[in-house]
Amino acid sequence: MTDAPTFGAAFLREFDTLLRWRRDVRHFDARAIPAEEMTALLEAASLAPSVGNAQPWRFVRLRTPALRAALAAHVDAQNARAAAGYAYKGRREAYSALKLHGLREAPELLAVFCDEHAAAGHGLGIATMPEMLRYSCVTAIHTLWLAARARGIGLGWVSILDPGAVAALLDVPQDWTLIALLCLGYPETPTDTPEIERRGWQAREPLADRLFER
Ligand SMILES: Cc1cc2nc3c(=O)[nH]c(=O)nc-3n(C[C@H](O)[C@H](O)[C@H](O)COP(=O)(O)O)c2cc1C
Repeated sequence: MTDAPTFGAAFLREFDTLLRWRRDVRHFDARAIPAEEMTALLEAASLAPSVGNAQPWRFVRLRTPALRAALAAHVDAQNARAAAGYAYKGRREAYSALKLHGLREAPELLAVFCDEHAAAGHGLGIATMPEMLRYSCVTAIHTLWLAARARGIGLGWVSILDPGAVAALLDVPQDWTLIALLCLGYPETPTDTPEIERRGWQAREPLADRLFER
């Protein structure tokens, strides 16, 4: 066993910068992600915590142009429905002006599923809250997100979709639940401010409004 590392002040400053500059990215340049970087990202995601160490995440890497086109068309259709759901015309127009995915441009697409019957973990920790398996997948995605940003790679989470339709398109086992469709690639313009904040939709709010004591 190697000695446990300690993390010094310089690292903590850089880590804070990483958190502040992690972004949800929808605008990608055309550069491909090198294969070894993709492997490193997936290995990093696999270090995430999971209930009972179940590691229920299942990554599906998109390789087929026709599937990419079908996914993009599906999300565009769902997005149009979501826009129509805003009764107030001004809000509807503001929504329609947002770019909410980079499915056509991102060099890599990754669908993340939760195996609801993961053999690993032997059911530990999910007797009363089976949704912990899905939460575990989210920890893997966030780990991947930070590992990507640390390498200058952007990630965009796409959720305006019908999860069953995406599972059917990707032909995955019945007991896999879609957690996320992710776009990965180098961002056109790195920024420290969320895109939908810059576009006036929703800014970050103070921690004090979200912290409660009992
Ligand atoms: C669970 C989840 C689902 C999201 N779905 C979408 C989405 O469908 N489209 C999109 O453009 N951004 C999506 N986002 C990104 C958020 O809009 C983004 O995280 C938020 O605006 C804050 O910006 P930041 O991530 O750059 O800090 C999603 C984020 C999360 C965590």
